Amino acid sequence: MRAIVIDKPGGPEVLTWREVPDPLPERGEVIIDVAASAVNRADALQRQGFYDPPPGASPYPGMECSGVVEAVGSDVEGFAPGDRVCALLSGGGYAEKVAVPWQQVMRVPKGVDLVEAAGLPEVACTVWSNVFMTARLRKGETLLVHGGASGIGTMAVQLAKAFGSRVVVTAGSPEKIGRCLELGADEGIDYRREDFSEKVKADVVLDIMGGKYLAGNIKVLKTGGRLVVIGLQGGTKGELDLGALLAKRASVYGTTLRSRPVDEKGAIVRGVVDNVWPLLDAGAIRPVVHARVPMSDAAEAHRILESGEHIGKILLVS
Ligand SMILES: NC(=O)c1ccc[n+]([C@@H]2O[C@H](COP(=O)([O-])OP(=O)(O)OC[C@H]3O[C@@H](n4cnc5c(N)ncnc54)[C@H](OP(=O)(O)O)[C@@H]3O)[C@@H](O)[C@H]2O)c1
Repeated sequence: MRAIVIDKPGGPEVLTWREVPDPLPERGEVIIDVAASAVNRADALQRQGFYDPPPGASPYPGMECSGVVEAVGSDVEGFAPGDRVCALLSGGGYAEKVAVPWQQVMRVPKGVDLVEAAGLPEVACTVWSNVFMTARLRKGETLLVHGGASGIGTMAVQLAKAFGSRVVVTAGSPEKIGRCLELGADEGIDYRREDFSEKVKADVVLDIMGGKYLAGNIKVLKTGGRLVVIGLQGGTKGELDLGALLAKRASVYGTTLRSRPVDEKGAIVRGVVDNVWPLLDAGAIRPVVHARVPMSDAAEAHRILESGEHIGKILLVS
């Protein structure tokens, strides 16, 4: 098969499409003939040498894919050759084939085309696990989503609205705020012009900025509020006002999805199939796709991601 190989850390130009050995199905694994993958910010960090794949994972980038099951190993439950699926991966999605534990595989939702489905696993699993499983967002509560126009943000807005919450986003331009409002957000804050911490109170904050926004995020939390940090785009360190945390009886969580063991990922995937997939089947929420790029030109997809012009997901078509 062919895959995108990273021989040395660097810019998008180090992503090279070439022949590599096919994966073989280990016990409990499914081999997917990949139709598409999608770009995540973590892929750019891996390309730059700042985010190695976890032990045992494929060395090729790509944390999600869609395609058709080609083969199954022993002890696989619920999938057979020919099934149209998408999957949450620890790596290896930028390739023509990938091996993945069956617990991380999902059917393609109704009404979603096979290529579009490649952009769903990361955003659905990240938002479901953090906003709903960890922070327990409830109907009527307010969710603040930083980076509402990101891949993650566009799913968080739609899901939180579908479950009856009020949603406020931050984004970097009036156009991006407009898109978030179209997706259902109640209010948008242009982070380049305004200080979000002066403008909103929230029960749950989904944060991708880390240190830079820590003080502001604590300030906006209501009593009993929950801050979930999933990204560190604004640095790993900040000052935490424990007095404010205690007074508000608030909680701070930090999580990553990629490094979790298969059984934890499997529990998240089951939650997604039970709770998110019915909304996709019914057309109540939709994948938000910015561009489809040939997988062999993954470098161009990374350039788009790093330009920051995109809204939603950039897909890599095999
Ligand atoms: N922990 C986990 O398990 C996990 C899993 C998946 C993703 N993530 C993280 O989630 C984040 C989004 O991922 P993605 O793949 O969806 O990336 P993406 O589409 O490239 O989004 C990056 C976002 O960052 C926003 N941003 C930049 N500076 C900002 C600021 N000062 N205030 C508010 N927003 C700002 C951008 O907003 P504008 O474009 O509007 O400027 C953009 O929407 C990344 O940090 C990623 O690492 C974490």
